[in-house]
Amino acid sequence: MHHFTYRQGVGGGSILHAEDVSLADLAASVGTPFYCYSTATLERHYRVFADAFEGADAEICFSVKANSNLGVLATLARLGAGMDVVSEGELRRVLAAGVQPERIAFSGVGKTADEMAFALEEGIFAFNVESEPELRTLSETASALGLSARIALRVNPDVDAQTHHKIATGKAENKFGVPYGEALALYRLAAALPGVDPRGVHMHIGSQITDLAPFRNAFALLKQLVDELRSNSFAIDFVNLGGGLGVPYRSDQPAPPLPAEYGKLVRDTVGDLGCKLLFEPGRLIAANAGILVSRVLYVKRGEPKTFTVVDAAMNDLIRPTLYEAYHEIWPVAEPAPGAPMITSDVVGPVCETGDYLALDRALPELRSGDLIAVMTAGAYGAVLASQYNSRLLVPEVLVAGDRYAVTRPRPHYGDMLAAERLPDWLKPERRA
Ligand code: LLP
Repeated sequence: MHHFTYRQGVGGGSILHAEDVSLADLAASVGTPFYCYSTATLERHYRVFADAFEGADAEICFSVKANSNLGVLATLARLGAGMDVVSEGELRRVLAAGVQPERIAFSGVGKTADEMAFALEEGIFAFNVESEPELRTLSETASALGLSARIALRVNPDVDAQTHHKIATGKAENKFGVPYGEALALYRLAAALPGVDPRGVHMHIGSQITDLAPFRNAFALLKQLVDELRSNSFAIDFVNLGGGLGVPYRSDQPAPPLPAEYGKLVRDTVGDLGCKLLFEPGRLIAANAGILVSRVLYVKRGEPKTFTVVDAAMNDLIRPTLYEAYHEIWPVAEPAPGAPMITSDVVGPVCETGDYLALDRALPELRSGDLIAVMTAGAYGAVLASQYNSRLLVPEVLVAGDRYAVTRPRPHYGDMLAAERLPDWLKPERRA
């Protein structure tokens, strides 16, 4: 469910709108390509997820890695969201967006001592600790500051999340978390070390999970571990169940389980622990709340393939080539019913064969100058963008009703060049 719909445009035809804003008008004003986010969709997804835990002591920490745009973060912060961060940069962003530190959890396998110190001084809620050496570094860092870090150990349950191999995190061979069998010994170590207070258990088994079974298996193991820890006198008062619930990328395929079904599973598996529950959804909140708008440059007709060359590329949205991800593409001007369809690869200007947004995609016939919207691009879209081929990062626009704001403007080529320095010996010689 999202708020990108076709509405009658000024010229008579139907135009794709983000809430009440015409994407054709937006493209004319900000240029293409650009990311566009819908406030109403963000709000709806956050609320649907939060409603699934109504009555429970639950904290929904938006996973900032999915979308770190300040406008998006501030929108969610206003709704009462906490945040899951994985770097000092993300932490600084959520603080700038007005999130209270006591609603922030810090994850990641490679936190540096400097990052830990910054988070400790800001007074975040908890660290998700992923290894014994990290635990020792956190203990030393917090002790040196005279502070104590509330921690959850991230436990790797060795569960198959049945998702793309690059985004599965809960198998023993993945770099994440501590092995389930070593958890008790590490809690003992944590209890003995100064500056760390082991109070929670964390698990996150992967992303774009479209079946509840892997969650059921993981949460059952998590409950077993909490019971074991408590019987060993550990005061466990929160569990962090991670993120990972999948979203519908295609309207022609069965939708993943609803947040309400996931909520019921959580109650059934860990509901009687009497713990605070933390969640780290990213994609579920942001994916369908964002699109990437691009303009067709050229249509290269030929055998055996036709290519629709657009002005957005793999550096703007890497998901299709990195994860074989499917994103629906909608023409911004609604095609007439029965309009002829053309099958083509929708590709960008980057000089790589892997630079595509869609392969063998049947779309209503497009011409140079037409606008398209790459759907479900609000999560892991702009955050994964790069300047590859020295292409400028694209702007991000946040829509709310009939208002919009360019929350990240398009940079200038001057900004790109000004960010680098020529060594003295390579500076162009001044002519006398
Ligand atoms: N918590 C932790 C510890 C995570 O590592 C992640 C995602 C999340 C929460 C949020 O998961 P979500 O609810 O969004 O599934 N770039 C990939 C996805 C990478 C996910 C990394 N970790 C993609 O575009 O599919």
